[in-house]
Amino acid sequence: MDKKLKVLLVFDCPYKTERSYDFAKEFKEPDWDTQANVYEALRENGHDISLLGVFDDINVLVEEINQNKPDVVFNIMEGFRNKTKLERNAAWFLEMLGIPFTGASPAALLICNDKALSKKILSFHKIRVPNFHTFSKNKKLKSVKRPKLPVIVKPLCEEASVGISQASVADSHDAALERIKFIHEKTGMDAIVEEYIAGREFYVSVIGNKALEVLPVREMKFGDITDPESRIATYKAKWDDEYRKKWGIQNVFANNMPEGLEKKMTHICKTAYRALNLNSYARFDLRVSSDGKIYILEVNANPCLAKDDELAQSAEKSGLEYAKLIQKIVSLALNNNGD
Ligand SMILES: Nc1ncnc2c1ncn2[C@@H]1O[C@H](COP(=O)(O)OP(=O)(O)O)[C@@H](O)[C@H]1O
Ligand SMILES: [Mg+2]
Repeated sequence: MDKKLKVLLVFDCPYKTERSYDFAKEFKEPDWDTQANVYEALRENGHDISLLGVFDDINVLVEEINQNKPDVVFNIMEGFRNKTKLERNAAWFLEMLGIPFTGASPAALLICNDKALSKKILSFHKIRVPNFHTFSKNKKLKSVKRPKLPVIVKPLCEEASVGISQASVADSHDAALERIKFIHEKTGMDAIVEEYIAGREFYVSVIGNKALEVLPVREMKFGDITDPESRIATYKAKWDDEYRKKWGIQNVFANNMPEGLEKKMTHICKTAYRALNLNSYARFDLRVSSDGKIYILEVNANPCLAKDDELAQSAEKSGLEYAKLIQKIVSLALNNNGD
């Protein structure tokens, strides 16, 4: 066994709880899979674990660390006060408190959470991303002229396909304008309008700080959805089991890839990982057009670590079963020299 460590597992919670709360009830619910899976794996690895759910008061994190100092924080906060955009701020605190923590740095979380900012940096590094244009919710909306049609309209800083449905893809700039208004009103967020890339969709997970390991590639198969502009990972396509069954949507290990494609994807993802100063673990959402061009659609810093999600599935396929994966992430946090 590796050395027994004092680990603080920190996650966002949709309500306030006492610092000593044990989350036994919540961890039985499917919505809490990730937290429960990581907790179980840390236990399997023999660590001494404290749990902390954070809702809208960051003082609980500071208090916990001051009063019960951990060796390492396992940080799976995905938001604060139910806002995804604030995910990065817990990491800022941990960085300032000088505690080793898992996952991306606050700077990388900030960059990757913004679908435009991350693409600007990737473009600088000559990595292909869809052309895009952003629309601020604070500016008067007149017309949409760019990019070329068809386009997909998304909230600028969301995750898990929140705000993405079949209506997100627009064949006219007027329809795009309507969807931008919808995003502004419903999510209270700026919108990003991207050139729609038809093609296969792949997920590539990477682990490491300096030496990087690219895990076996996953693919989302859109089953009976035949219209190329409808083949998107909407909220329903990702999370609604009945809908997935009805349309034969499946997430599988990629096969039948054209020769050389996997090698190119590996190279691109490693370059992107370094360009964005990522460490620990991340997942890239890619599309490959029919003429073989690889686009990064999105970079997920601190992607979902649930046992049945992409990263853990890929890790397992590469021989790193779940508890070992979680231990590896802990080790990477302890061996991360930061800057
Ligand atoms: N430019 C694009 N071209 C084609 N499909 C896209 C594009 N952007 C997003 N999508 C589809 O929408 C899904 C969700 O978009 P993504 O940017 O990954 O946001 P999220 O953070 O919600 O996962 C993608 O997995 C893909 O199916
Ligand atoms: Mg995505």
